[in-house]
Amino acid sequence: MSSPTKPLIVVEDLSKTFVLHNADSAVIPVFSKLRMEVSAGECLVLSGDSGVGKSTLMRSIYGNYSPTTGSVRVLHDGEYVDITQASPHTILDIRRRTLGYVSQFLRVIPRISTLRLVMEPLLENGVNPAEAEARAAKMLSALRLPEAHWRLPPATFSGGEQQRVNIARSFIRQYPVLLLDEPTASLDAENRAIVVDLIQEALDGGAAMIGIFHDLDVRDAVATRLFPVAEFKAAA
Ligand SMILES: Nc1ncnc2c1ncn2[C@@H]1O[C@H](COP(=O)(O)OP(=O)(O)O)[C@@H](O)[C@H]1O
Ligand SMILES: [Mg+2]
Repeated sequence: MSSPTKPLIVVEDLSKTFVLHNADSAVIPVFSKLRMEVSAGECLVLSGDSGVGKSTLMRSIYGNYSPTTGSVRVLHDGEYVDITQASPHTILDIRRRTLGYVSQFLRVIPRISTLRLVMEPLLENGVNPAEAEARAAKMLSALRLPEAHWRLPPATFSGGEQQRVNIARSFIRQYPVLLLDEPTASLDAENRAIVVDLIQEALDGGAAMIGIFHDLDVRDAVATRLFPVAEFKAAA
């Protein structure tokens, strides 16, 4: 594992301005010269009103958006890699082994059973199928997904059920860094509490997290630090 003194994520001078080429090249500055560091055991929660740039920042950290300036260094295999400059192949490797992402919605994969979907991150990382299946079953039970659902693809599940499959897939193995974009948005109070426990276990295990939570109870339960994105608001 990485040295505990080194932050797992180092963001420096990050700026993002959208230019809308199909709207007379309208320019939308979002944030500018943003910096942050996140270390093992920390859960940094992005705060601020809708439209302030929380999702844009999260997507920039995950390598989905290229920023206008700046770097996002991720500690991957003990070395910092700037995800804004990395090749697609390297980005995939970082996402497979270092940087997990829990989105608000499950990207539904047709015809793959729920159990198999949850096993996949383990299989990709070399865990044998019997152990992967046992761990996936344990995780789905913990998230109270009815056993009758496990052999079915999640396409027809309710929003909250799909969200729990999504969470099971993301917490089945410990990612060094986890990005959480409204992971509890469609869950009831009991399931939210289960997810809060999963988050806390991962933090205790040394994960570093960056999250967006609208639910203030969840936010207060897991945040070790708030990060007000508006402090880096770009001049319009
Ligand atoms: N893909 C995009 N193209 C153009 N503008 C975008 C895009 N994504 C977000 N924006 C704009 O960037 C700003 C920040 O959006 P967003 O990051 O979604 O905010 P938040 O997640 O804090 O609600 C908004 O003004 C939004 O309209
Ligand atoms: Mg958002």
